[in-house]
Amino acid sequence: MITEFRQAVLPKEVRSLAAFDRKVFSAADVFPPSYWKQCEAWWMLIDRRKAGCCAFQRDTDFTEDLTFTDNPKSKGTLYIATTGLLPKYQGQGFGALLKAWEVAYARRHGFRRIVTNTRKKNVRMIELNRQFGFMIVRTTPRYYAEPTDATVVMELLLKKS
Ligand SMILES: CC(C)(COP(=O)(O)OP(=O)(O)OC[C@H]1O[C@@H](n2cnc3c(N)ncnc32)[C@H](O)[C@@H]1OP(=O)(O)O)[C@@H](O)C(=O)NCCC(=O)NCCS
Repeated sequence: MITEFRQAVLPKEVRSLAAFDRKVFSAADVFPPSYWKQCEAWWMLIDRRKAGCCAFQRDTDFTEDLTFTDNPKSKGTLYIATTGLLPKYQGQGFGALLKAWEVAYARRHGFRRIVTNTRKKNVRMIELNRQFGFMIVRTTPRYYAEPTDATVVMELLLKKS
């Protein structure tokens, strides 16, 4: 089995990212094309097939749940905006592999902190983040719609190597 990570070419691959997103998330949670263009997105390929995807905003904090405006710049913080696997690749340890790669990416690029957020109902993602040392920073009610749910904001502080 060959696992590779390839940066998505933007804006060329926006349609492909949006199509992938629709297979992973419910309609209420997919990103609009304009948001993909603000991100740095990466494909996780398993035996050359697109199995997973994650997207970052570099030097950016996540505060949208509090301010309802764009996330502010924050040097040294990597915001992981999304992490997802196609259903057929879920539950086999690939999520842990993708998370390990995200953390390695942050260390490799000198980030001091990672921030991410997910639905409160998404126990799988919250537990996966916990396994990697992420701590809950806050839970903001009614951030998501359809169905209404809180967002759980988590961070991982990275030590300097
Ligand atoms: C969330 C997601 C990335 C996790 O990846 P995965 O491959 O399914 O998860 P893994 O098989 O690697 O399991 C990782 C850990 O999650 C936790 N986990 C998995 N299923 C769980 C469940 N039903 N309840 C609680 N924790 C669970 C466990 O801690 C597990 O580790 P363990 O097997 O050592 O106990 C994947 O399920 C996914 O893409 N889901 C849809 C998209 C999504 O919800 N993304 C997050 C929002 S940004």
